[in-house]
Amino acid sequence: MSTKQIIIAVDGYSSCGKSTLAKALAAQLAYVFIDTGAMYRAIALYLLRHQIDFNDTASVLNALTQIKLYFKYNSTTQKSDMYLNDENVEAEIREMRVSQKVSEVAAISDVRNFAVAQQHVMGKDKGIVMDGRDIGTVVFPEAELKIFVTADPAIRVQRRFLELSATNASITKEEISENLEHRDLMDTTREHSPLRQASDAKVLDNSNMTREEQLNLALSWANDLLR
Ligand code: DC
Repeated sequence: MSTKQIIIAVDGYSSCGKSTLAKALAAQLAYVFIDTGAMYRAIALYLLRHQIDFNDTASVLNALTQIKLYFKYNSTTQKSDMYLNDENVEAEIREMRVSQKVSEVAAISDVRNFAVAQQHVMGKDKGIVMDGRDIGTVVFPEAELKIFVTADPAIRVQRRFLELSATNASITKEEISENLEHRDLMDTTREHSPLRQASDAKVLDNSNMTREEQLNLALSWANDLLR
């Protein structure tokens, strides 16, 4: 394996399989995987629990001083879990009540500055695969490899439905479709760091690709740079 370390940014729409790909890529390269969406979700969870008005800048800023975020490896699931103030919130941040509000929270500039500062620290030694919306454009515009993941909307809804219905029998495809459309709109139209494809990103449309095919393609791009 190459000793050269690079930064790999994986950006794209909600429920495109970014995390699955980024995680597998990190495992293959023995890199650190960072799911930045989990950070925004944990911040949203904190604000919801404390009933903080997202438009009240002073309260949001004060809340951010009370938030400590970190990832910790879970040997049972072989994945890193998101911790909020030393509490494992990995399951709770995936719940619909957080999904419905997270885009609003991620649009707040103070929240973004708070999260991005931590992401810079996490990536300072390179050797990371970071997935999100603005990694290749704002967080690490100098990333050596930028992958922009897309998939057909109907396929994204179906994938999300299979994932969520395993733990929530009452969830409907309509509900998921509305949530994805809402998040895409919020994420692409917000003022601060909207979701955009970096001009130098490689596009990976995985609508008709298996996980293995996606991983092999991404790995070939990474290995070209690591040679
Ligand atoms: O990847 P995800 O669905 O868990 O992300 C949750 C929300 O956070 C999503 O609506 C967009 C936002 N997000 C963001 O604005 N910037 C990032 N780098 C990652 C996520």
